[in-house]
Amino acid sequence: MPNVQPKVPNVISLRRPDDWHVHLRDRTMLALVLPFTARRFARAIVMPNLVPPVTTVDAALAYRRRILAALPEGARFTPLLTCYLTNTTDAAELARGHTEGVFVAAKLYPAGATTHSDLGVSDFERIMPVLERMAAIGMPLLVHGEVADPEIDIFDREAVFIDRVLDPLRRRLPQLRIVLEHITTEMAVRYVAEGGERIAATITAHHLAINRNALFAGGMRPHLYCLPIAKREKDRLALRRAATSGDPHFFLGTDSAPHPLAQKEAARGAAGIFTAPAALEIYAEVFEEEGALDRLEAFASLSGPRFYGLPVNETRLTLVREPFLVPQRVGEGENAVIPFRAGESLRWRLDFRTAQDPASPSSPETAS
Ligand code: DOR
Ligand code: ZN
Repeated sequence: MPNVQPKVPNVISLRRPDDWHVHLRDRTMLALVLPFTARRFARAIVMPNLVPPVTTVDAALAYRRRILAALPEGARFTPLLTCYLTNTTDAAELARGHTEGVFVAAKLYPAGATTHSDLGVSDFERIMPVLERMAAIGMPLLVHGEVADPEIDIFDREAVFIDRVLDPLRRRLPQLRIVLEHITTEMAVRYVAEGGERIAATITAHHLAINRNALFAGGMRPHLYCLPIAKREKDRLALRRAATSGDPHFFLGTDSAPHPLAQKEAARGAAGIFTAPAALEIYAEVFEEEGALDRLEAFASLSGPRFYGLPVNETRLTLVREPFLVPQRVGEGENAVIPFRAGESLRWRLDFRTAQDPASPSSPETAS
């Protein structure tokens, strides 16, 4: 039999995806980055690590209003808000926020583990009553799964977190629904795949695209620095297998995390990769490379709503096989942000007629 390669289609049509993990920031940065997410995704789980963090129902309502006010004309996009857990989070306030539909989930940052996590949880015992309440009401816990201990090798922090914190927690509270965010290791893939129906994981586009060598290719690459940091090639390949497997434990979460240029290209560069302008297109490339385009919809549009118990989106979006030039930068001067794969040509482009807010001719999306 001749080895006939399946033909790659020129158009991908899928139920509109959602981004189950994104940083939209606030003020000028919010206005700058939101259109990229809102054009492509119907909903997004918005991270609460603002300064100060979103820790109360009122703060979340105010943030939601600012996001809605920053949406471009004609956009149809629903931000899903989360509560930032601290050592002193009040279980009753959190549960009220969930019941009232303000907090879709709560986010656990181990204190010191990542950007704006200083007010995160330093003592897991102190939030046990909060986690018990969440388990009782079915409110998902979203976890930044890294130990903050500087003694632990940075490339081992996810695996050590799973062993020391996550696994004991799941044994204590088996009812708690948990999303292990932005997983980066083969070990995390296995742990989640074998973990039953109350655990899931998001996978970013950048962790599918690069391994840790990319951070040092030809010199230090601050725009590829994020937390959890990219791991070994075997880990990247495990993430690719998980994302493209159709296993509903794994779904799309870009972790797009913009920082102004000056804060990335600095002696102490901030952690975070800004992927919003190209993440969906990069996921499409990855699924194409893995011969799994028929499973992109499960990853991007079906498995997330299923875990969160939300309806899938009824509208659709189209990607076309045409070169797409990722903008060199978004914004001007000191507010400029450099996107992941800036200036590179990708193989799939959003069909703007199916975008939720067709970009104006002068926008960075169409200016190329
Ligand atoms: O790289 C990261 N950036 N990881 C995080 O967990 C936070 C994020 C940010 O807010 O910049
Ligand atoms: Zn994040």
